[in-house]
Amino acid sequence: MTKKEIIRQVHEINCYYASKGFTKNYSKTWFSHKYNCNMLLVAYDSTLENILGFVCAHKMKDMPNHINLVILCVQKDHLRKGVGTQLINQFKEHFKNKIIALNVNKKNLNAIFFYESYGFQKLKEYEESLVLIKK
Ligand SMILES: CC(C)(COP(=O)(O)OP(=O)(O)OC[C@H]1O[C@@H](n2cnc3c(N)ncnc32)[C@H](O)[C@@H]1OP(=O)(O)O)[C@@H](O)C(=O)NCCC(=O)NCCS
Repeated sequence: MTKKEIIRQVHEINCYYASKGFTKNYSKTWFSHKYNCNMLLVAYDSTLENILGFVCAHKMKDMPNHINLVILCVQKDHLRKGVGTQLINQFKEHFKNKIIALNVNKKNLNAIFFYESYGFQKLKEYEESLVLIKK
């Protein structure tokens, strides 16, 4: 798959969840930058023509032993089939020496259940969101 097609599909999945208020809406340029920095991890179907989900990371300059999981999404027709699990496990493996931190909307209960089932714990609570970490 070309870089352009990867970015198109990733952006489309992001737009769907952003329209539902589950995630922020990131631009194709932002995803392209993440791709170039090796901070975009993608799960494909068996044909390698369709993206089933993705996860993006951000390095925290002032906290070098932390990594920020910015966004993790699974394509809507492939939820609850273990794609999110594969992505989070690969993410943990890739950044195995880092503490993973993320921000999730309090209303996004599915994502909170998901992250908690992988050992994430609440660090801070804001009016609309939670900061979760995994050591
Ligand atoms: C959160 C998300 C990534 C999970 O991906 P997924 O591929 O559906 O998750 P998995 O199939 O790997 O599920 C693993 C476990 O997480 C938990 N889980 C996942 N979705 C859940 C839900 N809707 N309700 C309750 N528990 C859930 C369950 O324990 C599940 O195990 P089980 O299916 O054996 O019960 C997916 O729901 C998603 O893309 N959500 C929209 C985008 C989003 O909100 N991202 C997070 C903020 S950036």
